[in-house]
Amino acid sequence: MTDNDTLRERIAGELSAARDRTTYLTTVVGEADLVRQHSPLMSPLVWDLAHIANQEELWLLREVGGLTPIHPEIDPLYDAFEHPRAKRPALPLLAPGEARGYGHEVRGRVMDLLEKTRFDGTRLTDGGFAFGMIAQHEQQHDETMLATHQLRAGPPVLSAPPPPAPSDAVTLPAEVLVPGGPFTMGTSTEPWALDNERPAHVVDVPPFYLDTTPVTNAAYAAFIADGGYDDPRWWTADGWAHRQRAGLEAPLFWRWEGEWVRVSFGVGLPIIPNEPVLHVSWYEADAYARWAGRRLPTEAEWEKAARHDPVSGRSMRYPWGDFDPTPEVANLGQRHLRPALAGSYPLGAAPSGARQLIGDVWEWTSSDFLPYPGFTAWPYKEYSEVFFGPEYKVLRGGAFGVSAVACRGTFRNWDYPVRRQIFAGFRTARSGSLETA
Ligand SMILES: [Fe+2]
Repeated sequence: MTDNDTLRERIAGELSAARDRTTYLTTVVGEADLVRQHSPLMSPLVWDLAHIANQEELWLLREVGGLTPIHPEIDPLYDAFEHPRAKRPALPLLAPGEARGYGHEVRGRVMDLLEKTRFDGTRLTDGGFAFGMIAQHEQQHDETMLATHQLRAGPPVLSAPPPPAPSDAVTLPAEVLVPGGPFTMGTSTEPWALDNERPAHVVDVPPFYLDTTPVTNAAYAAFIADGGYDDPRWWTADGWAHRQRAGLEAPLFWRWEGEWVRVSFGVGLPIIPNEPVLHVSWYEADAYARWAGRRLPTEAEWEKAARHDPVSGRSMRYPWGDFDPTPEVANLGQRHLRPALAGSYPLGAAPSGARQLIGDVWEWTSSDFLPYPGFTAWPYKEYSEVFFGPEYKVLRGGAFGVSAVACRGTFRNWDYPVRRQIFAGFRTARSGSLETA
């Protein structure tokens, strides 16, 4: 088999895995649930369904294949920048059957195109980039649709086995030391990395301590019990104003019934103390960290803890090394519908000893979403460039609902500091002293 054949096979596998997941998430509910808006924060599921197909047509059939548009008249309906999510239900969207038919037609033509494509010669086809971008795009929408499922009211429709439990979590230290010094952040070589992850550049990071695991429900409940939501000392001015306005008292989907209960995909059960906390905003994460006498890690600290190998001095693709994620090293890909207990996945640990940096929960960092030195927007400005600025905070590491194809040690996610319908948690840090490093 040639390298081209191997790549072709990988692409076909990633595209079909994404489509299987899309199909699952849009067939476990009936038509009424597909066209309904479950939250003003989210699109109706049927919008995601046709938008996935439309982006695949735009980038693969039209840009790579040079083919004539199938349905140019619907392009504006599925342009994410033309219509905010809250307005999408009022659009003359394709009905569920039409959206599925459109996706099927596009995919059939994409598979024909894939057979003929050589993976060199243009920047879009080099290393299969455009195909990888579209597989990631569909998986990212699958994650968004999973968040829509979490917001949906009604009887539960999703199920999955629980994640594996750790064997040695009780013996783990609370924090690990990441020694100071330069490391390589970002990438110039990862073929399917998106523009905001590029280019690789050296960043000097002073020594710091990082929580070994994400902050747990029990630790977060202690913050609540200690009056953390009622004490402006722990909150930034913006965070406190938001806490007052929105009436925040606990993470989203928590309710008090004599004990804290968390509703997860329609099932309400008492919180699991040692499970990473989920569905907190950046403001809440930041307030918790101050209450704990600590702070959120910067994005550079997070990536150094996740990728820097002090033995070779090199940045690895993942905390565990260079091989792609497997079920043994990280909780990804919606195999489970919740984060694994803190301290799980010893085989996925970073050289520093930190665990679960990849998978389980997205982790808020203290950093604004900004371009790396030498950034160039590609293949379109709306992927990242239009979002750069202080209004967005960076999240790292991916959650249980993130696919491995859309998760790398370099992958950057971003959102508003008020957002909490996303699968976000966090861990905390503190600066180390040069003497101890
Ligand atoms: Fe999209």
